[in-house]
Amino acid sequence: MDTLGTLSQTPFDLIVRKDIAWDFSEVPVHFVEHSTPLVSYLWATISAGATPIESFFIRALLPTLETISGDPKLERDVKAMIAQEAQHSASHRKLNDHLKAIGYDIDGIQAHFKRILDRATDGLSPLDMLGVVSAGEHGLYSIAHIYLASATLRRQIHPQVDRLFLYHFLEEAEHGAVSHDQYRYFFGNDYAHRLRTAFRARFVFSMLNEGIELAARGFNHRITFKDRCSLFYYKWIKPGPFRGMVTRLLAYISPWYKLGFSHEDLDKMKKWNEELYAR
Ligand SMILES: [Fe+2]
Ligand SMILES: [Fe+2]
Repeated sequence: MDTLGTLSQTPFDLIVRKDIAWDFSEVPVHFVEHSTPLVSYLWATISAGATPIESFFIRALLPTLETISGDPKLERDVKAMIAQEAQHSASHRKLNDHLKAIGYDIDGIQAHFKRILDRATDGLSPLDMLGVVSAGEHGLYSIAHIYLASATLRRQIHPQVDRLFLYHFLEEAEHGAVSHDQYRYFFGNDYAHRLRTAFRARFVFSMLNEGIELAARGFNHRITFKDRCSLFYYKWIKPGPFRGMVTRLLAYISPWYKLGFSHEDLDKMKKWNEELYAR
């Protein structure tokens, strides 16, 4: 493999899994076992948001792809990553259709996501967009590792939904460094630019909260103080995926940020891939 003289930090060629059949027919409204339905609404919001966010990533990555020259490995990584993202979008669409059929306001949540994405990227050039995508992708890479490593979190989610997130997050873990490599191809180590564009990606956090509110409204669920406390406990304490994310996001904004793959990471990815195909 041509790993010399490339900006790619991915020590393997990415594969695009197109052979997975999905079945979401048994997924109930409250598909996460928890004392508050808001936790199910949170994961439904993440799935609903996956479609507009993936299209946004693809739209941002494509315009600069053709201008990459002299680095075939990087070019191959970016193309494969785009193909993976398109496949994620298609797979989430299937779950989203089911969620919509059982009463989730998927259209309302997605329209909201699109509005926020437009606002977050207003006035940015195609190259600036790479910075936003690189930061956003690092957020996804972070949540992917937290999800895959947390047995408690995964056990609470309905197995048909967990399988989708296992697949999606495995591929996020695999292409974790690609958009940052593409970004560095154009910007090198321009730290000020990295910070400025990463700051634009902060909207994702508030988008999730608003998605939860929209889902609750769609079900005429009046959010109580107890619901909010339980959701807070879930997000930040146990299993605490947001707490884990903040630590990893801070790593991205450090001037020395670098994303590599250890042997341990590669072993884990092999295990997750086996689990995906065993189910
Ligand atoms: Fe994705
Ligand atoms: Fe991704």
